Amino acid sequence: MRVSLFAALAALTFAVTGCEKKPTTTETPKPVDAKPADVKPADPKAVVDAKPAEGDTILLGEVGSLTGSEAAFGISTRNGIELALEEANAAGGVKGKKLAVRVYDDQSKPEEAASAATRLITQDKVVAILGEVASSNSLAMAPKAQEAKVPMVSPSSTNPKVTEVGDYIFRVCFIDPFQGFVMARYAHDTLKFSKVAILTDKKSAYSEGLTEVFQKKFTEMGGRIVGVVAYSKGDTDFRSQLTNVKKLKPEGVYVPGYYQDVALIAEQAKELGLKVTMMGGDGWDSEKLFELGGAAVEGSYVSNHYSADDPSPRVQDFIKKYQAKFGAVPDSLAALGYDSANVVIDALKRAPDTSGPALRDAIAQTKDFPGVAGTITLDEKRNPVKPAVVLKVEGGKFKYVDTISP
Ligand code: PHE
Repeated sequence: MRVSLFAALAALTFAVTGCEKKPTTTETPKPVDAKPADVKPADPKAVVDAKPAEGDTILLGEVGSLTGSEAAFGISTRNGIELALEEANAAGGVKGKKLAVRVYDDQSKPEEAASAATRLITQDKVVAILGEVASSNSLAMAPKAQEAKVPMVSPSSTNPKVTEVGDYIFRVCFIDPFQGFVMARYAHDTLKFSKVAILTDKKSAYSEGLTEVFQKKFTEMGGRIVGVVAYSKGDTDFRSQLTNVKKLKPEGVYVPGYYQDVALIAEQAKELGLKVTMMGGDGWDSEKLFELGGAAVEGSYVSNHYSADDPSPRVQDFIKKYQAKFGAVPDSLAALGYDSANVVIDALKRAPDTSGPALRDAIAQTKDFPGVAGTITLDEKRNPVKPAVVLKVEGGKFKYVDTISP
């Protein structure tokens, strides 16, 4: 892990040191015409191709949590995107031009994500925006992209509301009504649980959405939700919530949160003698979960987008290339970051020009695209329909146990 973190940080420095001051304002976005001729030469240090000649570059934007509580999400995603661009440029670029990406760090905060999106649109005049990971951050960005008619593709935000913002907003991952169903079904049919408690992050659209779906599906299957206990992202003491959960005597606890909170919750649950199986979603996905949660997260189950254990050549080739470049096994964020960039690159090749409307239409037509985290065909709501995997935490890593199809 030390190696991978260093590699990730090195990449990050390379990618973001060129950014001017981090965005701090929340201006109202002005609609812009993102013609390629308007693309200003990007700051060389902020782009993947360090020598963009004027007019020869198609500039993409990226907003990610490169610091803050979800930093691991942004770093993995950034790596995946960088790999995709590097490959596309090595293969000659698109329409005779090289691709570059300008990245802004939103510090894991929705307000910052929104102003970064505005900045990419009005100042950098990017042709499309990649990001964010956390649904609450994508929800803050999407209205800016929609209003300016700049396509936005979220690699991994699973809350359904993200793409409902409008017809310029896409994603390359499945959505939470499916992900929540997957874990409810696994808990009920495979783990044979009949009494489950939920610990929900009331500050996160992602957590709230999954809580609602899990509760509904698990109950429909004949199970009982014995209680829903709330916490807030960034809390560090979960003992009172866990004491309440313990009193409810559940067989399992569903925690649809992000890795940092989850690791602390698991540790404190162990300390309080709450010996039940924990279950979660994609938000658990980070090496950090094992670093911070250690033995406390062992034996838990999560739903996720991809498994590094998948023997298919498409997955194994990607892992090999990623590992060679970053010295780590890619998580699902890296895989989805890679897929999101490749979907936009594919659409750029098919679009008659790089204007927002033309690129939007080309992205909307994405069909049977061979993504690492599953084949992508976008439906009329701009979401792909893909299977999910169930993974078990075993020996300090995620082990593949099942695939559940929609
Ligand atoms: N799906 C999460 C969200 O919408 C983000 C996430 C995706 C986190 C994949 C980890 C892995 O907030």
